[in-house]
Amino acid sequence: MGILYNRVADQLQSLIHEGVYREGERLPGVRVLSRQFGVSISTVLQAHQTLESRGYLEARERSGYFVRLPPRDTPVPSMARPKAQPLPVSARDMALDLCSVERKSLVPFGAAVPHPDFLPLRQIQQASIWAARQGLETLDYAFPSKLVFRRLLAQRMTSLGVVVAPDDIIATNGAQEAIILALRALTRPGDIVAIESPSFPGILQSLEIVGLRAIEIPVHPTDGISLEALQVALEQWPIKACVVVPNHSNPMGVRLTDHRKQRLVNLLTDAGVPLIEDDIYGDLAYDGERPRPAKAFDTSGNVIYCSSFSKTISPGLRLGWVIPGRHFADISQQKYFSNLATASLPQLAVTRFLEQGGYDRYLRGARQRYRDATERMRAAVARAFPEGTAISRPMGGFVLWVELPRRVSGTEVFAQARAAGINVAPGKMFSTTDKYQHCLRLNCANPWSDRIETAIQRLGEIVHQLNGSSPGQ
Ligand SMILES: Cc1ncc(COP(=O)(O)O)c(C=O)c1O
Repeated sequence: MGILYNRVADQLQSLIHEGVYREGERLPGVRVLSRQFGVSISTVLQAHQTLESRGYLEARERSGYFVRLPPRDTPVPSMARPKAQPLPVSARDMALDLCSVERKSLVPFGAAVPHPDFLPLRQIQQASIWAARQGLETLDYAFPSKLVFRRLLAQRMTSLGVVVAPDDIIATNGAQEAIILALRALTRPGDIVAIESPSFPGILQSLEIVGLRAIEIPVHPTDGISLEALQVALEQWPIKACVVVPNHSNPMGVRLTDHRKQRLVNLLTDAGVPLIEDDIYGDLAYDGERPRPAKAFDTSGNVIYCSSFSKTISPGLRLGWVIPGRHFADISQQKYFSNLATASLPQLAVTRFLEQGGYDRYLRGARQRYRDATERMRAAVARAFPEGTAISRPMGGFVLWVELPRRVSGTEVFAQARAAGINVAPGKMFSTTDKYQHCLRLNCANPWSDRIETAIQRLGEIVHQLNGSSPGQ
């Protein structure tokens, strides 16, 4: 049923895009659509609500549903051509600023952090209370980490085609720690690491803290990381590792096909370069199918898999994991030397939540909510921003990458938005170069409200003004 109404909503959305139903036009009645699609009336009603929450329809009392269309079919951003040479990383102070506590009063389009309404708070509270009652189990060091937790992860990973035993997994303080441990185990200061461009700022920070140089490999807006550019870089430079987010990369939201994942794994294995896979958004695919990780195509242990529950259960649990493959000994030593073990209580709480089947039930609804929120935001940005704006079309996750007209500085938008009480992530945070000066990343995981809508309009005005255009044009 859930899948059916989504399919009807998707078809109606394409008809709207193709101009079959125009802006301001009333959609055919519920009965007509139910006959047309061969589905029940309640399915049509759910499809309507879905399109309403994506911002494509407007319900008018007693009159039905009317089409609201983005003013044009906004293009997706272009593929950047970052400088093909390794550069030292100096991740901008802005990243810390973006997440800092005193910024909480700002409209939260900056950090990629879900609003609490998107998270299973009640369930995780109950599971945490249960965990706190487990006495010594929660108070002891979890060396190397809790077996019950790793056992459940092993089951989930095996169902994704990554056949592992509990002893192949190490719990970490989030995905970021997993990436840093992997980098520390594989490199020495000054080494070169290939990363996606644009890249999640946390990956740049991880490289910086380990003292590495980055070679940026462009990300295509629909195909993902350019394997051709990666191949050239591998031939040209002594690359020691490659960090990729194959499922719903941050900020582009793009997903590699299985075929491209396989090619990525083969390319790096043949070159003898380990792949550090960050799969933190893998569970948040909009089409409902959980995509396979690149690790599922790894037969030699060359892929180090990193993930966490920060985007699905709660970022504050700080609970992630790493599957180090053949680098297990080095990475477990890095973990032990840096902070001994991961806190036991979150591991037990999440185990309880997973065991009771709550996580999968929650995920079914969460994927839909993230998708609706992101599509709605995309439509609103397309309406409010000037011609010449390009917006990513994510396949999962909850961020949008917005390319502004070239003359508009994302950093200036950031400054003016901040003064207007709105937080955004300026493009310069996503590279070691100044390639993305005219870009922004927007976090969409917020419940829709007048405040959000007004903030997008305000951002649109700022961008228009810097562009020398006016909103009515
Ligand atoms: C791609 C990506 N990797 C890692 C992280 C950090 O994850 P964690 O909070 O689990 O350390 C984030 C958070 O925004 C992210 O977007």
